Parts: sequence; structure tokens; C-alpha cells
Amino acid sequence: MSERAIIAAGVALFLAGACFPFWRNAAAPPRPLVLPLPAGERQCVAPVAYMRASHGDLLLAWRDRVVRSGERVFTAPDGRVRELSLVRTCLGCHQKAEFCDRCHQYVAVAPECWSCHVDPRSPR
Ligand code: HEC
Ligand code: HEC
Ligand code: HEC
Repeated sequence: MSERAIIAAGVALFLAGACFPFWRNAAAPPRPLVLPLPAGERQCVAPVAYMRASHGDLLLAWRDRVVRSGERVFTAPDGRVRELSLVRTCLGCHQKAEFCDRCHQYVAVAPECWSCHVDPRSPR
């Protein structure tokens, strides 16, 4: 092989390697997360933009209202009086495994709630 051919082969090899993250993504683009929403329900317990950004804070505020102030219910945006409860309210509409857990895995967060609060669909 001529010196030129060797250099060209080296350059080609280097470019293929350097571009690996790009062609790998082109071959298998990151899948968008499609989450199942509760059938027959149109509204969450707060505006959806707020829920997306702050449902963790909302849940901790609910816990404090129950545990510290002895409140048990609230009026949801649809006008229904609902319980301030992680399992009985949130999991009354959403599926823990297919909704909460899937998104948490996707964004790599692991809230420590489920050692005490038990998913009624898969009780341990
Ligand atoms: C060490 C056990 C434990 C862990 C971990 C825990 N909780 Fe609780 N939680 C409790 C207990 C006990 C109560 C009081 C139950 C009651 O009075 O109904 C409670 C009550 C609540 C309530 C109000 C009552 C209800 O039915 O939901 C909410 C909301 C809540 N916790 C949310 C959370 C969230 C969110 C997390 C995770 C960030 C969490 N908890 C982690 C033990 C725990
Ligand atoms: C009455 C049924 C119902 C209850 C109860 C409920 N949700 Fe929802 N939730 C919905 C619906 C319907 C949507 C979609 C709303 C929309 O797209 O406008 C939603 C959307 C969401 C989203 C945004 C999902 C996304 O696509 O980004 C999160 C997060 C969420 N809910 C968490 C919770 C949590 C946490 C609780 C308990 C504090 C809860 N929900 C209680 C019905 C409910
Ligand atoms: C669309 C994605 C998505 C969905 C769906 C989702 N979460 Fe989360 N969750 C997050 C993200 C991102 C965080 C970390 C940022 C934060 O704390 O708000 C988080 C954090 C939390 C926390 C942490 C609170 C704290 O500070 O310790 C709790 C509790 C929680 N989620 C409960 C739930 C429950 C219950 C459901 C199902 C009813 C749910 N989440 C559905 C994305 C999601």
C-alpha cells in the first residue's frame, strides 16, 4: 500500500470512530416516552404543566397537610372532592408501573415512597 492509501485509511477509520455517537443515534434514535393516561379522565388534580414540573412538591405538600394538619380531602379542578392520598387518589387514576415508574426510569429518578406506600395493583 502506498503511504497515501495508509493515511487515507487511517483518516477514514478515525472519522468513523469519532462519529460513532451520531450514526448510532441515527440508527436508533432515542424513543420518545409515550405514557398511558387514565381512560375517561381529562384533567389531572392540577393544571398539567404544573403537574409535569412540580408533582413531587405537590405530593409532599399533601403529606404535610394530612400528617401535620389532619386534613384529608381537597376539591379537584373538576369540582370533585377527593382524598389527599398518594395511593388512593394518584393511583386511582394512574398506573404506578406503566406511568410513574416508566417516566422515573426514563429521567433516572427514584423517589423513596414505595417502601411504605403500596401499589394496590401489585401489593407485596
Ligand atoms: C417510612 C415510611 C414512609 C415513606 C418512605 C413515605 N411515606 Fe408517606 N406516609 C407514611 C405514613 C405512615 C403516612 C400516614 C398515613 C395516614 O395517616 O394515612 C404517610 C402519609 C402520606 C400522604 C398522605 C396520606 C396518603 O394516603 O397518601 C402522602 C400524600 C404521602 N405520605 C406521600 C409520600 C411521598 C410522596 C413519599 C415519597 C417521597 C412518601 N410519602 C414516603 C409513611 C411513609
Ligand atoms: C382524576 C384522575 C387523575 C388523578 C386523581 C390524578 N391524575 Fe395525573 N393526570 C390525569 C390526566 C387525565 C392527565 C393528562 C392531563 C392533560 O394532558 O391535560 C394527567 C397528567 C399527569 C402528569 C403529566 C404527564 C405528562 O404527560 O407529562 C403527571 C406527572 C401526573 N398526572 C401525576 C399525577 C399525580 C402525582 C397525581 C396525584 C397527586 C395525579 N396525577 C392524580 C388524571 C389524573
Ligand atoms: C412525565 C414524567 C413523570 C411522570 C409521569 C411521573 N413523574 Fe414523578 N418525577 C418526575 C421527575 C422528572 C422528578 C424529579 C424532579 C422533581 O422532583 O420534581 C419526579 C419526582 C417525583 C417525586 C419526588 C419528590 C421528592 O422531592 O422526593 C415523587 C414523590 C414523584 N415524582 C411521584 C410520582 C408519582 C406518584 C407519579 C405517578 C402518579 C409520578 N411521579 C409520575 C417525572 C415524572
